Amino acid sequence: MAQTKRIGILTAGGDSPGLNAAIRGVGKTALGFYSMEIVGFRDGFRGIVEDRRLKLDRATLAGILTVGGTILGTSRDKPQRMTIDGRVHDMTSVIVKNYGRYGLDALVCLGGGGTQKSALRLKEAGINVITLPKTIDNDVALTDLTIGFSTALDIATETIDRLHSTAHSHHRIIVTEIMGHRAGWLALGAGIAGGADVILIPEIPYDVHKIADAIRRRSRVGTNFSIVAVAEGAMAKDDARAFQAAEGRKERARNQREKHEAKLELAALEAKHSGNTLRLAKQLEELTHLESRVTILGYVQRGGIPSPADRLLATRLGSACGDLINENVFGVMVASRGDRTEPVPLERVAGKRKIVPPDHPWVEAARRVGTCLGD
Ligand code: F6P
Repeated sequence: MAQTKRIGILTAGGDSPGLNAAIRGVGKTALGFYSMEIVGFRDGFRGIVEDRRLKLDRATLAGILTVGGTILGTSRDKPQRMTIDGRVHDMTSVIVKNYGRYGLDALVCLGGGGTQKSALRLKEAGINVITLPKTIDNDVALTDLTIGFSTALDIATETIDRLHSTAHSHHRIIVTEIMGHRAGWLALGAGIAGGADVILIPEIPYDVHKIADAIRRRSRVGTNFSIVAVAEGAMAKDDARAFQAAEGRKERARNQREKHEAKLELAALEAKHSGNTLRLAKQLEELTHLESRVTILGYVQRGGIPSPADRLLATRLGSACGDLINENVFGVMVASRGDRTEPVPLERVAGKRKIVPPDHPWVEAARRVGTCLGD
């Protein structure tokens, strides 16, 4: 008789709505459908290093479908760079050892781009790893959607809807900052759905004078308010050039010293970029003479009840993950492709980011309806 399979599961990276729905999807399929055993590790990869486990049974998996966050807790710890007692260590071999000690047949990792990279590392170290894509940024490569994006999109859109009242009543510019350091899916999607007048994303560097022109054009025809939806990582053309140059230096570095210098340069540029949204609002006020205000959405976008679309996605991907484990398919991310799911080898996903192509249909649609994209 075949032995009962034992699987571990963890959530890593930033929390996002739908993680619990995914844990439930994997868990109920594994437990109820395939009669496997499942154990959760707390706080991402750290839980498996520090032996912090949570046995997942019918009771633990009940009532979590609609709960935000993750019942397992999460962290941004990476197997190969974990701070233990104030020092950074490569804990990969400890994870491999504990995986064996717990008698696991598979480890399910729910996470974004960083987690896919970490998972590949664990696969190369000999673990039967399988991942699910989650992040409100929707920037994991080779999946149509990531768990959390739909909910964040709903929240950001509703915020833009609500900001219209004050912008309109007070004849103001309201600059609203939406999450997304490297990818603009959330700002673009919410901006279009909420009817923002200006949408700024990291993939399309902006010229502040072009934005001011667009706002002034609106004022000239009697529309003396504007909503500017700006992604965290959106930047002016000059800043984008400086970032690109530093990133190029980092990639071309011939030795550790050059790499270190490029990293310092990038960190300095990041530091300079913080507060960009406030500076942008001030610049627009000066250029247009319209009063400007800022609303930063922050963690509101990642919190609370997951949308039906996220619950559905998480359940689809989670149950497909259970099927793949049953079939002994490992070393893959369970991707969403239209109505179907598809196992994609981790080598094809790790280190890649799905950013908004400049000619993406969403970008084209925004331009057609007269939205200023700052370029
Ligand atoms: O990756 C998801 C995300 O919410 C990004 O949009 C945001 O830039 C980042 O996480 C914030 O990370 P943290 O919560 O670790 O500061």
